[in-house]
Amino acid sequence: MNDKDYDRLLRIKTVGTREWLDQSSHYNRYEATPYSALDELFCDYVLERTDGIVDFGCGKGRLAFYLHNRFEVSVIGIEMSAQLYQEALENLASYRQKAKRVGGSIRFECCLAEDYVVESEDNRFYFFNPFSIQIFGRVVDNILCSVEQQKRAVDIILYYPTAEYIDFLEEGTPFELLKEVRVPGLYEQNDNERFLIFRSRSGK
Ligand SMILES: C[S@@+](CC[C@H](N)C(=O)[O-])C[C@H]1O[C@@H](n2cnc3c(N)ncnc32)[C@H](O)[C@@H]1O
Repeated sequence: MNDKDYDRLLRIKTVGTREWLDQSSHYNRYEATPYSALDELFCDYVLERTDGIVDFGCGKGRLAFYLHNRFEVSVIGIEMSAQLYQEALENLASYRQKAKRVGGSIRFECCLAEDYVVESEDNRFYFFNPFSIQIFGRVVDNILCSVEQQKRAVDIILYYPTAEYIDFLEEGTPFELLKEVRVPGLYEQNDNERFLIFRSRSGK
């Protein structure tokens, strides 16, 4: 099934890219994680219904709909662009009309990822290359502050991970590499086509 077909199944519209004309070097463009990559990741890495997922830089919300539909988990999507946030809300209205899933919830917030106040229920944090290493560092600090206040194990999931993100996690934080999931058919041509999952158990 291609991305358009998958979108149709979920009754959402998430394909395409969006460039920022006045783009700061800190904030990257919109492009959704391919569904085929998500299928691969979540074959290997299973979520529990009690998990709370945050997608930092969620765009039109593809990950939220995919995860809610598949695992009935609660997902929060954070997006800085008011336009993409609006499209995510339109997708939510359309998804809800037919969604059979009753567990979990989907919520979108229009704000900067670095300003999002991490909640005690949040324990899985997803990043598809949304912003610079400086912003990533601030977001990870916020996650660790939340863990300090409410002890729990948390995962950071990176798609298309950059060396800067990896070095930052490995050298400056309690996160340790838990798993690598390569996207078959794509990884052979481009070794960025993989997920890395880092876990911090330090809070527990
Ligand atoms: C590569 S897209 C990833 C979309 C989505 N996470 C997915 O995997 O399908 C990155 C998104 O991050 C958003 N973004 C960039 N910097 C941000 C920031 N500081 N706060 C919130 N969103 C941001 C962009 O607008 C874009 O929609």
